[in-house]
Amino acid sequence: MFRYMQSGNIAPMHHTAHYAGSKLLNEYCFTREGFEEPYSILYLHHPPTGESMREVYSEAAWGRPQPRADALLERRHFRGGMAEPEHHFIAARTLLAFNDDLSYGLCHPAQEEMTFFANNDADELFFVCKGAAVLQSLFGKIQLRAGDYLIIPRSCPYRFRFEAPPGLLYVEAKRDIDIPQEFRHAAGQIKMDAPYSERSFKLPEWDADLFENEEPVAIVRKRQGAFTRTHYSENYFRMEGWDGYVYPYAINLDAIQPKTGRVHLPPTSHLTFAGGGFAVMSFLPRPLDFDAKAVPCPFYHSSVNCDELLFYHSGDFTSRKGIEQGSISYHPSGIPHGPHPGAYAGSIGAKQTEEQAVMVDTFQPMTLTAAGEALEDPDYPKSWQETRP
Ligand SMILES: [Fe+2]
Repeated sequence: MFRYMQSGNIAPMHHTAHYAGSKLLNEYCFTREGFEEPYSILYLHHPPTGESMREVYSEAAWGRPQPRADALLERRHFRGGMAEPEHHFIAARTLLAFNDDLSYGLCHPAQEEMTFFANNDADELFFVCKGAAVLQSLFGKIQLRAGDYLIIPRSCPYRFRFEAPPGLLYVEAKRDIDIPQEFRHAAGQIKMDAPYSERSFKLPEWDADLFENEEPVAIVRKRQGAFTRTHYSENYFRMEGWDGYVYPYAINLDAIQPKTGRVHLPPTSHLTFAGGGFAVMSFLPRPLDFDAKAVPCPFYHSSVNCDELLFYHSGDFTSRKGIEQGSISYHPSGIPHGPHPGAYAGSIGAKQTEEQAVMVDTFQPMTLTAAGEALEDPDYPKSWQETRP
């Protein structure tokens, strides 16, 4: 999505006959926004229209979120680390909150699933909270480990292969998600003052296991919240090569440069990705503010037009009451929040933080789901009181 890629064997010119031996290949153009925006072109052995059967897929139930009734306006804490692994990556999604721009939740699969999934409703952002996996996709494979962000363009079929089940945070970006435009100059290259460069990203590699066999496959596609499983009698993914600008990509937190200021920098300084209606920020290990009077702890604030969802990935969160690895705090727009008692004064003089956290700020209010209720810590809204009941 941010630079041209070429993989395998492609024709020297668009829309010309291209062969594998004597076999005429099927040119398949995978576009965004009609034909006006980025695209990739693949050379498939079999037409991508070769469905043998379609059926309603009912194993996944997260396509049409159920709002929670009468949710109080208050700060909330989801104990994401307590989420029990279940099902597989298509079905195992616990949606916590949503609006017209995005949905946000957890995916903790218990077992591997060989069926592919394509989300025709949204680009997807995954964050690997724990474990390791290989993404297999229409454009190739990417090795994933804890701390990786993964972005998958809408309608791209994929699956996860793993030895140990991964824990994933996910965002469905109903409009789009990408590298912020301000990180790129007019020629498209990532600018030197961005927190990463082209070298920081993991791009799809040729997947001979998927692209060079003849095993039939099935793809579950989600569209308008409904799931359809399509069976193919041939390998949908068998191909000779592809090129273009549309493909999945990943980046680890370790590959992102943090920023430090003389005094506390606002969260926008830690921007990583921009989505339609939301932004993603990464809080990383770094030296803290260096002014002699600096208070490194965040000041109290109300983000008047933003809901904040903060995932705590690793580090020492003991200054935040009740927060643990895997926790997700949810602070709705206009509700003041900030340091827990003692943390503000206690931060003065601190030189370094080792925390890793991932924040999603949404520009329209989120609606909480019934599904998220079981993970919620009921004591969190009271945790700013000096003595916790
Ligand atoms: Fe905040």
